Amino acid sequence: MGFPHPSHPKETVLLSRYFGDAEARTYDGWVARGGYEALRKALAMTPEVLIEEIKASGLRGRGGAGFPTGLKWSLMPKPDGRPRYLVCNADESEPGTFKDREILRWTPHQLLEGCAIAAHAIGAERIYIYIRGEFTEPLKVMRAAVEEATARGALGSNALGSGRRIDVVLHRGAGAYICGEETAMLNSIEGRRGNPRIKPPYPAQAGVFGMPTTINNVETLAAVPHIVTRGAAWYKGLCLGNPKSTGTKLISICGHIQRPGNYEVTMGTPVKEILYDMAGGPLEGREFKAIIPGGSSVPIMTREEAESALFDYEGIVEKGSMLGSAGMIVMDDSTDMVYQIWRLARFYAHESCAQCTQCREGTAWTTKVLERILAGKGRAEDFQLLLDLSENMTGKTICVLSDSCAAPVVSGIKKFRHEFEAYIQGAREPAMVAV
Ligand SMILES: Cc1cc2nc3c(=O)[nH]c(=O)nc-3n(C[C@H](O)[C@H](O)[C@H](O)COP(=O)(O)O)c2cc1C
Repeated sequence: MGFPHPSHPKETVLLSRYFGDAEARTYDGWVARGGYEALRKALAMTPEVLIEEIKASGLRGRGGAGFPTGLKWSLMPKPDGRPRYLVCNADESEPGTFKDREILRWTPHQLLEGCAIAAHAIGAERIYIYIRGEFTEPLKVMRAAVEEATARGALGSNALGSGRRIDVVLHRGAGAYICGEETAMLNSIEGRRGNPRIKPPYPAQAGVFGMPTTINNVETLAAVPHIVTRGAAWYKGLCLGNPKSTGTKLISICGHIQRPGNYEVTMGTPVKEILYDMAGGPLEGREFKAIIPGGSSVPIMTREEAESALFDYEGIVEKGSMLGSAGMIVMDDSTDMVYQIWRLARFYAHESCAQCTQCREGTAWTTKVLERILAGKGRAEDFQLLLDLSENMTGKTICVLSDSCAAPVVSGIKKFRHEFEAYIQGAREPAMVAV
């Protein structure tokens, strides 16, 4: 099992504090580190007060969309005797993103505590944690933690003696990217094909088994105990950029960089500091060329755009992309951008659930056109064709998987057009055999 790198002095280590500390994975180890005190405190609060506290902290969803967490919890209907559920999204299939995995494998009780607090806030007695199928080791760790926390009375029929029932069910996915989309996940939990559902109704009205449901990402929920312990004002104060982006953010960095790995930073930290000071800068003799800052589903940034941005929701948007899942894919000057964009398009074509025509056809067609260009058989009109396809894939489908395919294609053509032209004009050797 791999160990994380030691934290960098410029990091703000909060959720990642016990990464690499094997004792923190046990119930006693977690309690010795102050664990489950936040849950005890939260259980003594009314759900309304708890939700207000989370709202005041400014916490926003870390799964990609950045939706305010307290607001999401408050959208659950008033208890009416029907079951209601919390679903924790631990599917983490976004390319370049591996931060939730570290929370699951090193601090399972941090996550369970956050889940239990959220369950109390929304009035749920059952929590589903949907774990990515490939996460064999995190699943093992989580299973042991759920068993221990239940046996020790933190979870179960009388959570920490509060009289509240909080049960956790671990649901293992089968390895489909689309099941990370929240409504596809609900179908998958119900044993159906993981196709996204049309909204409305939203999960808060009709979620898993048709009951009111809140879905939150692993990192979102893992931040909750810290807010309960130290207060909303303290959490809100963790902010170096736009006041709408608060707290810390785990960033997964991969690709052409000296020290890939997970880093935890205060929202608003300059991207340049993250890339050079924390992650060590480019590889020997190389220069950064492009960065995808939020997993693969967001527009590509040029080096200049990325290096002048602040790392928070607004700062990345200001420079033409999105924070997404905060998986930073770094590419240096040795990168063939056309080839990389094709790799991404092929991923989305493979992972499309095929429910919507624009996605099913658009992702596959885009992949084929890019293959043609890479094979040296591209045509001048292929630029317009790719842009038309992307337009048809944006904002027209049940979920945003096809928008995610369009984002790197459109930004890639806009910012690295000369690399496409080199293939089309025969100035570059084909990178692919004939299609
Ligand atoms: C195709 C697709 C894949 C997604 N994959 C994930 C994922 O792996 N993990 C995740 O937390 N959110 C994922 N999301 C976002 C979820 O639908 C949802 O917004 C998120 O889990 C809500 O939690 P949050 O508010 O705490 O961020 C995905 C969305 C789409 C459209």
